[in-house]
Amino acid sequence: MKRTPLIAGNWKMNTTVPEACSLAKAILAGMEPADGTETVICPPFVSLAPLHEVLAESPVKLGAQNMYFKPKGAFTGEVSASMIKPFCSYVILGHSERRQVFGESNELINAKIIAAVEAGLKPILCLGESLEQRKAGKAVDTVTGQLLSCLAEIRQTSGLVIAYEPVWAIGTGVNAGVDEVCQIMQALRAAVAGMYGTGAGEEVRLLYGGSVTAENAASYLSQPVIDGALLGGASLDPDQFTTIIKLAAAAKNI
Ligand code: PGA
Repeated sequence: MKRTPLIAGNWKMNTTVPEACSLAKAILAGMEPADGTETVICPPFVSLAPLHEVLAESPVKLGAQNMYFKPKGAFTGEVSASMIKPFCSYVILGHSERRQVFGESNELINAKIIAAVEAGLKPILCLGESLEQRKAGKAVDTVTGQLLSCLAEIRQTSGLVIAYEPVWAIGTGVNAGVDEVCQIMQALRAAVAGMYGTGAGEEVRLLYGGSVTAENAASYLSQPVIDGALLGGASLDPDQFTTIIKLAAAAKNI
């Protein structure tokens, strides 16, 4: 099955609004027109509306980095699905920084996915094991366990994207080995097929994330089981980001 390659940039807590607009314009300037890949930028919340204008005539889509599952109310500091929906196609949920720094559980992430899907947003669900879990030989069990919990009560997976991001590879410069990543991806695809049927397992897009650079991106993107990448640091550098988009187009022969 042909899946559209996806390169997503998670800007995390970087860029003021003017900086975000400049970075988005630099990315647009470096991109090839319609190369068959899908590009998503996930800036801080305050830049979603201004970037929606900057990217209006472009194929680049926007994603949020998080959201809360309640529709509205007394939840100081939170943002709901309906607030981001006018600007976003995607929303990153369950990023390891949300899990580790802000204590998000699989149950909370599950509630957020349900709310995102109901609002018509495509979740980019992040999963990944810690170094201790990997060393203990529990990487596959950890990520498939996260998957089952995060997708509980969710009846259809259409549009779902899963990003495998080992915690020890995020922002460390230590990227995971391609064979290790492929093993996890195969387990994730099989788990989705087990939950939702073979078609869903074939359809779900799987991204690798964790210290991906323009130098190492092709080794992941050339693997048939890997559909793209979720980039942190590399997405803040327009040259690297657009190089990786071109590498994705080349690796997937489109
Ligand atoms: P990194 O971050 O590319 O800087 O390692 C990836 C991520 O957190 O999504």
